[in-house]
Amino acid sequence: MKLIQTEDGSHTLYVAEIDETYHSTFGAIQESQHVFIDTGLRKCIKPDIELLEIGFGTGLNAYLTMVYAVEKGVKVHYHAFELYPIDDALVAGLNFASHYGMVEDFVSLHKAEWGREVAINNSFFITKYCEDFTRTDFLPYFDVCYFDAFSPDKQPDMWGYDRFELLYKSANSSAIFTTYCAKGQIRRHLQQAGFLVERLPGPKGKREILRAIK
Ligand SMILES: C[S@@+](CC[C@H](N)C(=O)[O-])C[C@H]1O[C@@H](n2cnc3c(N)ncnc32)[C@H](O)[C@@H]1O
Repeated sequence: MKLIQTEDGSHTLYVAEIDETYHSTFGAIQESQHVFIDTGLRKCIKPDIELLEIGFGTGLNAYLTMVYAVEKGVKVHYHAFELYPIDDALVAGLNFASHYGMVEDFVSLHKAEWGREVAINNSFFITKYCEDFTRTDFLPYFDVCYFDAFSPDKQPDMWGYDRFELLYKSANSSAIFTTYCAKGQIRRHLQQAGFLVERLPGPKGKREILRAIK
């Protein structure tokens, strides 16, 4: 695993084993902000939001969500699945917090104990699950879901139809699901599971992304 700089100056990780990066090399922050915060979170009007992320990784999505929650004065209960947590040395090298501040809170996201809710500040509460998403039959109820697994070509089990059935069951009424992946097969899985699906313009370097609503 190697730390690299993307085009907007923010870091991402490159995994040589599967030849894949955690974020777009056109800009990790610009991608995360567009796909998950602006297309997903911003559309949720609840003052108290249950949010599920598949693939916590570097914690960038969680960090940008925390910045949003503090700015807007909403509360977010963030539930994140991650089977392969990154080590402390990599966390220390990541430069996300130099963009928006809250350095200590970013570190706290990574230090938070697994399997129980931890208050990071008055707006942001995180529960991390060190579990295999492909095998779980439990997901917390959610209003917003960030689906940020590695691509279906590299990790097809993360994108199996049964996973979207489980996600639909765990979605609250009007829940919003977003992912950077716009593949026809994934759109059809989401529709078949019961979601209403839209194809929307992607961030720099990506034509389309998907948003699904229950
Ligand atoms: C594209 S990266 C996520 C990027 C992350 N959202 C971020 O902001 O850095 C995909 C993540 O899924 C995790 N992952 C891979 N297989 C998994 C599994 N079976 N269950 C849960 N997480 C898994 C990887 O370790 C990786 O952190």
